[in-house]
Amino acid sequence: MSQSFRPAERYDATTVWLHWITVILIAVLWGIGQTADLVPRGPLRTGVWSTHVVLGFLAAFVLVTRVAWRAKFGRVLPPADSGRLYVIAKLAHYVLYGLIGIVIIAGVIDASYRGFNVFGLWSVPQFGSGDAATRRSINEWHELAANALIVVAAIHALAALGHHYLWRDHLLDRMRP
Ligand code: HEM
Ligand code: HEM
Repeated sequence: MSQSFRPAERYDATTVWLHWITVILIAVLWGIGQTADLVPRGPLRTGVWSTHVVLGFLAAFVLVTRVAWRAKFGRVLPPADSGRLYVIAKLAHYVLYGLIGIVIIAGVIDASYRGFNVFGLWSVPQFGSGDAATRRSINEWHELAANALIVVAAIHALAALGHHYLWRDHLLDRMRP
C-alpha cells in the first residue's frame, strides 16, 4: 500500500465538486433532521424544516447530476486498492449512492404524504390521507435510512483517511478541489 498517486490520477473538477457538495448537503440535512425539533414550536421551527425540504430537493438534483456525470463524463481512475479491498471500496461507493437515493425518495414521500408547506409559499402535492400513524412510519424509514447513510459515510471517510495518513498513499489528493 505504499504507492502514491500522480496529479494526473485525480478526479476531474466536476466529480470533485459534486462529491464535496454532496458531503456538505448530507451533513447539513442530517444535522437539521436531528436538531430541528429542539427549536421552539412556531414559525422558526417551520422555517428550519422548510430549509430541510428545500435542501433535500437540491440534494436530489445534485444526486441525479452526479450519477449522470459519473456515468457519462467523469474520469475513471485506476483502483486505489487491490483484491478484496477494492471490491469492498467499490461496493461501499454503490451502497452510498443507493442510500442517498433511498433517503431522498423517503424524504420526498414524507413531505408529500403530509402535503408539506415550504415557507408558506408552496405545498408539496399531497397524496394519501396524511394520517398520523402512516406519517410516523414513513418518517421512521426516512430517519433509519439517513442514519445508515451517515454510518456508511463515516466508515468510508475513515478508510479514506487511513489510506492517506496511515498508508501514506496520498489518496485524498484524488478528491482534492
Ligand atoms: C440525504 C438527504 C437527507 C437526509 C440526511 C435527511 C435526514 C432527515 C432526518 C435525520 C430527519 C429527522 C427524522 C426524525 O427525527 O423524525 C428528517 C426529517 C424529515 N425530512 Fe429529511 N433528510 C434528507 C432528505 C430529505 C428530502 C429530499 C426531503 C423532501 C424533499 C426530506 C423531508 C423531510 C421531512 C418532511 C422530515 C420530517 C419533518 C417533520 O418532522 O416535520 N428530507 N430528515
Ligand atoms: C456523506 C459523505 C460522503 C459520501 C456520500 C461519499 C461518497 C463517495 C462516493 C460515492 C465515492 C466514489 C467516487 C464517485 O463516484 O464520486 C467517493 C470517493 C471518495 N471519497 Fe467520499 N463520500 C463522503 C465523504 C467523504 C469524506 C468525509 C472523505 C474524506 C475524509 C471522502 C473521501 C473520498 C475519497 C478520497 C474518494 C476517492 C476514493 C478513490 O479514488 O477510490 N469522502 N465518495
